[in-house]
Amino acid sequence: MSKTIGILTAGGDSPGLNAAIRGVGKAALGAYDMHLVGFRDGFRGLLQDRHIAFGPADLSGILTIGGTILGTSRDKPNKMPIGGKKIDMRDAMVEVYNKHHLDVLVCLGGGGTAKNAYSLMEKGLNVITMPKTIDNDVAMTDVTFGFDTALGIATEAIDRLHSTAHSHHRIIVVEVMGHNTGWLALGAGIAGGADVILIPELPYDVELVAEAIRQRSRRGSRFSIVAVSEGARSKEDFQKLAEARAAVEGAEDKKERKKAKAKLAEVEASMTNHTLQLSQQLELLTGLEARVTILGHLQRGGTPSAADRLLATRLGTACAHLIHKGTYGVMVAARGDGAEAVPLEQVIGKRKTVPLDHPWISSARNIQVCLGDALT
Ligand code: F6P
Repeated sequence: MSKTIGILTAGGDSPGLNAAIRGVGKAALGAYDMHLVGFRDGFRGLLQDRHIAFGPADLSGILTIGGTILGTSRDKPNKMPIGGKKIDMRDAMVEVYNKHHLDVLVCLGGGGTAKNAYSLMEKGLNVITMPKTIDNDVAMTDVTFGFDTALGIATEAIDRLHSTAHSHHRIIVVEVMGHNTGWLALGAGIAGGADVILIPELPYDVELVAEAIRQRSRRGSRFSIVAVSEGARSKEDFQKLAEARAAVEGAEDKKERKKAKAKLAEVEASMTNHTLQLSQQLELLTGLEARVTILGHLQRGGTPSAADRLLATRLGTACAHLIHKGTYGVMVAARGDGAEAVPLEQVIGKRKTVPLDHPWISSARNIQVCLGDALT
């Protein structure tokens, strides 16, 4: 009997999602004679049974489209916000899964989505995930789709900022996404020729950053581009955050935990404008004028790059093949030129950060980019 696949996209949208839906769908329908049911807006659409039965025509013309034709949300199956409360709705989702006689639910998303899919697996569902996110922070995969496109957008932005920084003799501090990892800022910073790159993995010393900029001025370069990851923090802020997090971890009872959580939220809130604060500090410390550019969601928009289309198609078709073989409970990881099924247990609860001995870090240092932790 031919199999029926359910598919949804969850978490932040990312270029390449439609290419992945198309890859899974075309292989499933065309090569393996399966059926494909899409659920709208992530796990919420599964819960509410808002679905679309995909035919071949629905999968045509979507390869180059950005975002996700299915829509997405950040809802968690075991903590659905309903009527002001967070409710475990996994049993209701299992009912929808059974109603459609699904053989497997394919969830396209990042680390959070893998965790959510795993929580449905605990309820007896067959699940498979595919790693998408512009942050490139999913464990156990060489790369995630969406990253290459965002890298290109951020690099182009840094390229363009050079001429205006140069003309006005300014510092331009450009904030790059990436959540709590520095893949995007480091990659785009190096590719775009930033003079300073600040990432979460390396808490920075603002005095050293200022000195690196002053050094450039003394050498005749009266402008500087500072690429800062949205998750990058100064040494002092990093310490404050670590202490607040440790207090939450170490809380001995409910009351103490609640207090510690409130304190952590307060500390985090005080850092929401950290890029602006950094720019103001640099202005004061260097005497140069500074401006801030926050790239934000621009980095997630638009058509996927060729590399992301290839990756999403490679993983999508590999996903259909795994379903054909009956392999479930895995993430379809990118490994070398191919794809590999990695058990979800090995993926969840982990984040792939930039290793401090990564070649990108040594390359950046070797071309005298200041990473905020030492003078070059
Ligand atoms: O995970 C992708 C990402 O774009 C992160 O880089 C960023 O921190 C976050 O999503 C933004 O989330 P939202 O779209 O919910 O504002």
